[in-house]
Amino acid sequence: MRIGVLTGGGDCPGLNAVIRAIVRKGEGIYGHTIVGFRSGWRGVIEDETIDLDRNATRGLLPRGGTILGTSRTNPSKVDNGFEKVLDTLRGERIDGLVAIGGEDTLGVASQLTDAGANVIGVPKTIDNDLGATDFTFGFDTAVQIATDAIDRLHTTAESHDRVMVVEVMGRHAGWIATYAGLAGGADVILVPEEPFDIAQVCEHIRRRHKHGARFSIVVVAEGAVPKEGQMATQSSDVDAFGHVRLGGISNWVQQEIESRTGFETRVTILGHVLRGGTPTAFDRVLATRLGIEAIDAAHERDFGKMVALQGTSITRVPLADAVRELKTVDPKIFGVASVFFG
Ligand code: F6P
Repeated sequence: MRIGVLTGGGDCPGLNAVIRAIVRKGEGIYGHTIVGFRSGWRGVIEDETIDLDRNATRGLLPRGGTILGTSRTNPSKVDNGFEKVLDTLRGERIDGLVAIGGEDTLGVASQLTDAGANVIGVPKTIDNDLGATDFTFGFDTAVQIATDAIDRLHTTAESHDRVMVVEVMGRHAGWIATYAGLAGGADVILVPEEPFDIAQVCEHIRRRHKHGARFSIVVVAEGAVPKEGQMATQSSDVDAFGHVRLGGISNWVQQEIESRTGFETRVTILGHVLRGGTPTAFDRVLATRLGIEAIDAAHERDFGKMVALQGTSITRVPLADAVRELKTVDPKIFGVASVFFG
């Protein structure tokens, strides 16, 4: 068989580990040829390929990013985009395509399945907001990086008696903010799922300081919104999937805290740092297991599925189920984190 592989959307630690697993089992055990497409759906539209064999994938397990490159190209926004994708798959004699991506990339994979293409999805996003899988790889790494940053901010906050506002990624879901805030001992966590009241945030901080604390840590997801407010955007430009560029809500939170409480307040925006560098051991193992399941599914011609982590098992679910709705933060976990607010 000839199996295509692409990585789409934002990059994420663990992508290379998936590619390596697909090649090692696909070529080494099944004897298939693995063809990489460059830069997500753009590489399929433009028929830009990379040969993926054992040599090309040596040393990939700990390497962040993606050797295939990625893009946010959406075939439905390109003239005859879907026809071009199907033409390339026919021209390259691809028997099955493994698309590694988040809601947007897998949304396209699902539409291609409906159009009769042989596609398998592998879920990835640091945001952990994909349905039908308990965790996505990249999330654990992002949480670890954010937690390390919060630990470091603690010591400088303590030295200066400051409030530190830390902004993390999380467009629609506050998983990173919740987990990193919980792990890092945040005094307040703001997530997109729960519009916040800035007066109450300030009240938590005042109460804490009244009881002897001299500093506070506030973790804010980039998609957090004040009650009756708007998402903070960096520009009004949207990408090919209609997403605005978020970022900056923490600047507003910082100004409000400082002016309302009088406590000196600083902001750190972690942004793309959370997506960079080497994956944690958890993400390497998860990415490898998902890659192996994806090539097994391709070998068995079990197309139209997304491989997923459910409990401790790797399973296969219909691609359509995976993109039906975003997985927002479990209120029970947020409830645990909120015990420590104020
Ligand atoms: O991939 C998800 C994500 O990291 C979001 O958390 C974030 O809002 C977005 O990507 C940023 O995208 P870009 O790298 O295109 O600016």
